[in-house]
Order: sequence, then structure tokens, then C-alpha cells
Amino acid sequence: MNSSANIKVAPSVLAADWGSLENEISKAEQGGADLIHLDVMDGHFVPPITFGASFVKTIRKLTKLPLDVHLMIEKPDLHIDSFVEAGADIITVHQEACPHLHRALQSIKEKGLKAGVALNPSTPVSFLRPVTELIDLVCLMTVNPGWGGQSFIETSVEKVAETKKLFTNHSIDIEVDGGITPKTAAKVIQAGANILVAGTAVFGSGDYQATISAIRSSKT
Ligand code: DX5
Ligand code: ZN
Repeated sequence: MNSSANIKVAPSVLAADWGSLENEISKAEQGGADLIHLDVMDGHFVPPITFGASFVKTIRKLTKLPLDVHLMIEKPDLHIDSFVEAGADIITVHQEACPHLHRALQSIKEKGLKAGVALNPSTPVSFLRPVTELIDLVCLMTVNPGWGGQSFIETSVEKVAETKKLFTNHSIDIEVDGGITPKTAAKVIQAGANILVAGTAVFGSGDYQATISAIRSSKT
């Protein structure tokens, strides 16, 4: 199990008040956020449309924290360069949207960024086996992607443990995304997750610092 010192919390801007973005991001940063999670949705891979690279570029100017860009889009390969130019630090593509996953991961890493792969709740962890050496981060969706504020899917906990087992040769980040709260965080931390994305739990709370620290130190 990871100790709380190694746990990173990545507030998802999806749940922030976009009318006061600068203030929201600065409050999250001052509250101890380790990364800023940005959910790009295209209206195809998932029904909603959120924002693209120009929004990421705007966020880049508002924080020094690493930008964790989660692409919930079809054909992500076509857009990697524009998110690199926008200032992303981590780019995560969905396995389900990426028939040429090996090539996509290579092209993210060639730009010097961390390469992530996200898996929907119904996608087996074993699909990553052929490309393990190219992966810096696995993002396990703990809800079906598309919306904030959904309930955590309990069967995800086992997938965290499976991911930890699969990557025995090099250390990677195991990120969980969806329905993470100070309560649900404990099980995934126990199973080996070290980056916890939280949208509603952080931005929907009255005290970002208290919520971020409660997620980080959540125990079963
Ligand atoms: C869902 C997104 C999540 C979302 C999580 O498709 O990938 O990052 O913002 O929101 P919460 O924490 O509210 O479940
Ligand atoms: Zn996300």
C-alpha cells in the first residue's frame, strides 16, 4: 500500500466554476493539489463536449502544477501535437479509442511527455500487456466516462490490484478517475493507486484543502 506521502490528488476542472477559473485553480493549488486534471470530451467517444487544446493553453497560464490531460476523444492520435503545444505534461488516451495504441504512446513519449492509457470499467487490464514498456500512467476509470458526479464502481478496486501486478518491471502511476471521495479513496489506495482524480468531491466542497487532504490520507 502507498503511504499518504506518495499519494497525489488531481482535482478535475470539470467540476469547477468556470466563471471563476483562476480563483478555482488557485484555491485547489493552495489546498495541496498535486496535478490539475483536464477532461477533454468530443461528443463522440463520450456524449458531452467539454473543451480542446486552447482551453488547456489558458489553464497552462493559470498554474505551475503539472497538467494531466485526459483525452476522451476519438482518433486521439490526430490531436496529440496540439495538446503538447498547449502545455500538457501528461497525455492520456483511451485504449478503446486507439487502434494504434503503440504508435500513439510512442508519439507522446517522443515529445518528452508522460504517456497514459485510460481503461473504461468494462475493458480488461490485460489489454495493456503488449505495450507495458511504453506506459507511464494507467488511468482506471472508476465510473463510465462522460460526466462528473457519478457513483464509484466497486469492481474497479480489483482492476487496480491487477494493474499493480502487471507492471512489475517498471514503476508507473496508477490513477483512478470517477466517484473518488474521502470514503471511496481508501480502497483504491489500499489496492495500489497513487493518483486520485476528484472533481465533485473537491470543487463541490466548501474547503478544498480539507477535502484534498482527506482524500490523500483516506484509510480503510
Ligand atoms: C469523467 C471524468 C472525470 C470526472 C470525475 O468522465 O474523466 O475526470 O471529472 O468527476 P467526479 O470526481 O465528480 O466523479
Ligand atoms: Zn478524467
